[in-house]
Amino acid sequence: MTDGVGLRGSVALVGAGNMGLALLEGWTAQQVTGPVSVIEPQPSQRLQDLCAEYGYALNGAAAPRDAVVLAVKPQALDSGTVAAAPFVGPATVVVSILAGKRISDIAAHVPAQAIVRAMPNTPAAIGRGIAGAFSSPATSAAQRALADALLRAVGAVEWVDDETLIDAVTAVSGSGPAYVFYFAECLAAAGAEAGLPAALAARLARVTVEGAGELMHRQPETPPDELRRRVTSPGGTTAAALEVLEAADGLAGLMRRAVAAARRRAEELSG
Ligand SMILES: NC(=O)c1ccc[n+]([C@@H]2O[C@H](COP(=O)([O-])OP(=O)(O)OC[C@H]3O[C@@H](n4cnc5c(N)ncnc54)[C@H](OP(=O)(O)O)[C@@H]3O)[C@@H](O)[C@H]2O)c1
Repeated sequence: MTDGVGLRGSVALVGAGNMGLALLEGWTAQQVTGPVSVIEPQPSQRLQDLCAEYGYALNGAAAPRDAVVLAVKPQALDSGTVAAAPFVGPATVVVSILAGKRISDIAAHVPAQAIVRAMPNTPAAIGRGIAGAFSSPATSAAQRALADALLRAVGAVEWVDDETLIDAVTAVSGSGPAYVFYFAECLAAAGAEAGLPAALAARLARVTVEGAGELMHRQPETPPDELRRRVTSPGGTTAAALEVLEAADGLAGLMRRAVAAARRRAEELSG
């Protein structure tokens, strides 16, 4: 529903912590046109300023909205849905970003048929996130488009047609930023072991990860393996390292096990 003149629809945001505030900033950048209500028990100064500047109703009266976005912690599902309920009307789509909470969990708490379960990730805070999303069968195309636009305001959105795949999305992109940060840590530690001062190794590793990520971002049509081949001369230094990373006990197997562990944990948390 972004059409160049703004994001159309009335929205209530329940929970404006890290992720909720990032979404609200994204909607603001997309020039959301409908009324916006925000429910947040401990509004940060940034949230108060944003609401004052753009006329968003902070902890005000409730009325049914086109979309209600639930962004409380999963353990606050009960109180969050109590706060959300007055904004839910017959035509409302409820968008939940609560990790590990299924559509059926949300449906048990709010009187909505149209429910979207999404798993964003932290780069949403800089508008560079990616979310996986699944919609309940009762969600109309227009409701799904509105949910898509709300999520897309902070990054890319990929829809899956099987709710259980959200656990795999969680394991890849939801938890993924932490894997990349850990990679930077390991690269720095290896650099220090190779004789570099620790601070220099940390800076080399950090800026390398930042730069490589940005290079990939700027060449969306080029797959990572092609980018890798372009910087790997046969018989050179990179090839020597990749031989280790590509070995039978190398990175591919480790990643498979790490993602499988995260997916299993996501399944457990979903009950
Ligand atoms: N951060 C991520 O990378 C990420 C990624 C994917 C999904 N998620 C999901 O996003 C959700 C929010 O995560 P977060 O990191 O943004 O958490 P957060 O910073 O703790 O934000 C949650 C906010 O909701 C508020 N809240 C609690 N009860 C409420 C109620 N009844 N009504 C309205 N607001 C209420 C909290 O206020 P108090 O501080 O006063 O409790 C807090 O400000 C979680 O469910 C998480 O699973 C996060």
